[in-house]
Amino acid sequence: MDANQRFNKIAAYIEERRGNRNNPALDYRWQHSLRVAHYGQQIALAENAAVEQVIAACLLHDVARFDEVDHGIEHGRVGARLVRPFLAELGYSPAEINNICFAIAAHVDDQADFEHPFTLEAKVVNDADNIDRFSTYRILLHFQDCLDDYHQLINRASQRVEKLKTLQPPQFMATPSGERLFRHQLEMQIEFLERLIADSKISILPQIKE
Ligand SMILES: [Fe+2]
Ligand SMILES: [Fe+2]
Repeated sequence: MDANQRFNKIAAYIEERRGNRNNPALDYRWQHSLRVAHYGQQIALAENAAVEQVIAACLLHDVARFDEVDHGIEHGRVGARLVRPFLAELGYSPAEINNICFAIAAHVDDQADFEHPFTLEAKVVNDADNIDRFSTYRILLHFQDCLDDYHQLINRASQRVEKLKTLQPPQFMATPSGERLFRHQLEMQIEFLERLIADSKISILPQIKE
């Protein structure tokens, strides 16, 4: 089995765990996992991390969130325990399995429930996950409850810009390539929100200077 065949098996495994639950939040979760895998691949290549392990961990990092039960902050550790036998079936070595499982287990709060060094691969998965948390789609999600109230929307956009600007210190992410991608997301979000706020400033009656 080659790497791409293993990725197909992972996609089928998630599909199976979802069963026939027709839930848009689960659709979103899988789309998110796919994007995290894309960011993970890019960062892993740039940082010389083990690319296949990173992609496998990214695809599976939120696997426990496809369960009926909400595992909350435990979903990383629950997911890692869940996929261990499946990773062995895919033919990964014990060391690879531990590394993939550590990245999955630690992605929420940096804590696993087994001893393992905090590897580059785990850092890449964390960065990739955080980058997608600042995606274009997340802007829409953030404001979905106030789209009908323009003043509230603009107020919230101003608060959000201030908050985003506090996330700018260097080395916010664990890897330099993750940092670059994250900054790109932040700049995109800030630029969009500043345009939104600027539009509100021209929502006034024009005046001609005499
Ligand atoms: Fe997660
Ligand atoms: Fe995630």
